[in-house]
Amino acid sequence: MTVRSANALPRPLADEVILPMEADSLELDTPAVLVDLDVVEGNILRMQAFADQEGFRLRPHVKSHKSVAVARRQLQAGAMGICVSSASEAAAMAASGAEDVLLAYPLVGSRKMDRLDELAVSGRVTVVTDSEFVTEGYSRYAKSLGTVLPVLVEVDTGMNRVGVDPRSVATLALDVARSDGLRFAGIMTHAGHAHDVASHADIVRVAREEAAIMGAVREELEALGLEVPIVSAGSTITSPYLRGTDGITEIRPGTYVYNDLRTMGRFACTADTIAASMLSTVVSINGDRVTVDAGSKTLTTSRDEVHGYGTVDGFAGAAFTRLSEEHGVFSVAAPSGSIAVGDRVRIRPIHVCVWMDLQPEVYGVRGGKVVERINVDAMRHSL
Ligand SMILES: Cc1ncc(COP(=O)(O)O)c(C=O)c1O
Repeated sequence: MTVRSANALPRPLADEVILPMEADSLELDTPAVLVDLDVVEGNILRMQAFADQEGFRLRPHVKSHKSVAVARRQLQAGAMGICVSSASEAAAMAASGAEDVLLAYPLVGSRKMDRLDELAVSGRVTVVTDSEFVTEGYSRYAKSLGTVLPVLVEVDTGMNRVGVDPRSVATLALDVARSDGLRFAGIMTHAGHAHDVASHADIVRVAREEAAIMGAVREELEALGLEVPIVSAGSTITSPYLRGTDGITEIRPGTYVYNDLRTMGRFACTADTIAASMLSTVVSINGDRVTVDAGSKTLTTSRDEVHGYGTVDGFAGAAFTRLSEEHGVFSVAAPSGSIAVGDRVRIRPIHVCVWMDLQPEVYGVRGGKVVERINVDAMRHSL
């Protein structure tokens, strides 16, 4: 039996429970996240097959699952490395055995960099900059370790979050190339604004702009005599519209592993490929109002116009209309007899990555049975 420290988070399943176990067993407390392993494995294989077909290297963003066990499945299927979003996430996911970790976030502050020591000294981490300030910090850090740190310059292809204007990449790339302790390793972008457009045609347009800008920046840098080994782009939503001929070398989709309703709304998955659901218990019913034990602390406040805060399996058209911290409220059309206090329902995620940040452990299900505990190793690893 695993001994957990006194302040360890309570988990939906007691340590001593032996698996497999029926997924509807009351041994599993709620709310708890279930992941359908057949669906997960199908999602991993499909994305890998797409990447292989186009000649892209696949670097899954692990923020969507935060689990060493799932990263290992992605690596075994052919992923060449992983992408992470914080230094502590990088450290937690190092146990996956990934030899090539991209930390796709500009790091400011030595406390953060110190968390990377092991990966940096063993040459397993690449970092990202979009300013001279951040580049200087990396240079100081690399020199203090006596190592050479590979650096990508982030390009803003329209999301307006981080990244330099495509016209300013060369200046920063040359700055990196000339900095002590650093090696210019290429360019990256995240076209997250594909979430902000609704039509299929607009998503294709965003993806093609992403490809065109990155291809043009690559050509400009090469014309200046810089080698650009890595051109990293492509999310779950935009990757399907990128091509091997675009000059992109790798894609970094994350959500595809579990999928969610907002990704479905952007044409990147179908309902039957959403692997994750929140198992929750009905705690109150009044007329057509049904209240479950999953609120904003588990479902988060992510919502969209079509699905509210999430949908409920078996109740077509039912979407959450109200969330408190521990309560989720949805309406059913024909309440009497269709659902009762004590019933369990499965809720589908709007944004699965933030669900995962709130769970110490999720449960792998196959054939109606819980067969695997999946530790969420990088839960709450924002530092
Ligand atoms: C920098 C970066 N790369 C890749 C991804 C993966 O995107 P998605 O989960 O939509 O596939 C994200 C997600 O937020 C990201 O921030």
